Amino acid sequence: MGSGLPFAVLISGRGSNMRALAQAAEDGGINGRVVLVISDRADAAGLIDAERRRIPTRLIESGRGADRAAFGRALTAAIEESRAELVALAGFMRILDAGFAARWAGRLLNIHPSLLPAHRGLHTHRRVLEAGDRQHGCTVHFVTAELDAGPAVIQGRLAVLADDTEETLSARVQRLEHIIYPRAVGWFAAGRLACIEGAVWLDGKPLAAPVIEDAV
Ligand code: GRF
Repeated sequence: MGSGLPFAVLISGRGSNMRALAQAAEDGGINGRVVLVISDRADAAGLIDAERRRIPTRLIESGRGADRAAFGRALTAAIEESRAELVALAGFMRILDAGFAARWAGRLLNIHPSLLPAHRGLHTHRRVLEAGDRQHGCTVHFVTAELDAGPAVIQGRLAVLADDTEETLSARVQRLEHIIYPRAVGWFAAGRLACIEGAVWLDGKPLAAPVIEDAV
């Protein structure tokens, strides 16, 4: 097992961002290692990939009507046991309770498929097309108790084309996600990135606005 920052990745489905993070950790782009992948769904395809990479996996289902705080405590117990020092949400489709957000404050990142604060929530590609937006993209942000509202670290940005569909947009946004998420986690692992009193700091300076990565 390599050295560096131990981190956990939480998924619910395909897990392509988890793959990008694990690959960057293997290739040295992130000075760290994925010590745990948690899924809340047994059928998450990403679990198979994590197992193939010999990353420990846990299935923690929230159950219908289950208490959200209890679910958060179960996640925290597993993450603590793994000794992860950062938690990366990567397509994790459960809303986390305030207790979980507080426990991991400053150590909890998420990737969202829009240029936040535009289009919080679901179906972002469709909503971008409906709104006639000229630009779209994705955001890595620190997570707070409010959904998709924590301070942004980096955004991948692209131009919406006249013939774009939900599918073409989704594919181009995902390519950007796989660039910006490993970059942000790499900064964190290198001790360059922090969230202090709700503000993002990079290289010893507060960020006035997220770093922008334009699609080429
Ligand atoms: C990504 O689009 C991410 O932005 C959103 O959920 C999707 C997860 O995709 N939060 P994957 O499971 O990482 O492939």
